[in-house]
Amino acid sequence: MWNNAIEDALLKIKQNIITYPGQLPHITEGEKYEWGDNNDWIEGFYVGMMWLAYEYGQDPFYKEAAESYLANFKDRLDRHVALDHHDIGFLYSLSAVAEWRVTGNSAARAAALQAADKLLMRWRPRIGIIQAWGKEDDPENGGRMIIDCLLNLPLLFWAHEQTGEAKYYDIAMQHALQSQKFLVRGDGSSYHTFYFHTENGNALRGGTHQGYQDGSTWTRGQAWGIYGFALAYRYTKHEAFLDTSKRLAKYFIEHLPDDAVVYWDFDVMVEDITPRDSSASAIAACGLLELLELTGDSDPDRTVFKDALNRSMKSLVEHYATTGQADAEGLLKHGSYHVRGDRAPDDYMIWGDYFYLEALVRIEKGNKGYWYV
Ligand code: GLY
Repeated sequence: MWNNAIEDALLKIKQNIITYPGQLPHITEGEKYEWGDNNDWIEGFYVGMMWLAYEYGQDPFYKEAAESYLANFKDRLDRHVALDHHDIGFLYSLSAVAEWRVTGNSAARAAALQAADKLLMRWRPRIGIIQAWGKEDDPENGGRMIIDCLLNLPLLFWAHEQTGEAKYYDIAMQHALQSQKFLVRGDGSSYHTFYFHTENGNALRGGTHQGYQDGSTWTRGQAWGIYGFALAYRYTKHEAFLDTSKRLAKYFIEHLPDDAVVYWDFDVMVEDITPRDSSASAIAACGLLELLELTGDSDPDRTVFKDALNRSMKSLVEHYATTGQADAEGLLKHGSYHVRGDRAPDDYMIWGDYFYLEALVRIEKGNKGYWYV
């Protein structure tokens, strides 16, 4: 089953590369990606899928396609195009770091280090966080962190491994600790975002951006937390991060609906029309795979994690994937970007496609994706 789903996904990636040369998919409405330039937070996922495709079957077509984007990503950095946000990690882990990892290209390594330096500029030492969005004095976003940022930290941990410079590790570690302290609640649920006072660093309040309401649990945020804290543990060996990832995973699993693919927020009232977020389930699947790699056979939670992983992936493959739909551009239907903001509430999400493929390839072949080396 997994193999068939992967082969179908690879064909779709190839078809997109041929149909839209040099372009990148944007947030979509109407089950057709909008294709354009490198100016959002999501472009790395498309290139990351090409690297997964190449590593899976060694077809040089995907490698050449992925390599052809490096100059574009480097140019974006040089010209600082739409980089007033923390998602530099998402963008450059899956493009430049992935390329360096697979090919050893020193230009890719240099671009990834340049990206890590740019990410460091968002560090707010008075608060101990990497600010998510906007400029330091932004009235809405100054002093604000979000749970998604945990997936940006591997770029900094990687830069530390490459250079030996402590600043990358220290900042990533501090941010992960603040995330653990302020974004994760006692019952294992999570805030999407948290605000601090920009001048004295005092903790102010939890809130949301894409979730249902401030105190609710946005399912994709919870999934970023599962995977992100597991990765923070992999790099730091700080046991409490592993424990936090597991607590978030158990909350996620305990609140799964019957078909094991989550709605967009755990606290929203579920009706026939309530949107799912298949991308959250794909991210959580990768988080569970990570937890299964990091925990030993005697860990009592492994059975629960394995069962949830299998149920969710089987459901995604059988009921959400576009397998067999030859003209589909996306891999996974029924993702949601920003339901409350009425942006793409039920559509393909390129990160959903990426994590779905990462999970499949990890299950089938054990490749690890590009969040760590
Ligand atoms: N990191 C933005 C999102 O998950 O929508």
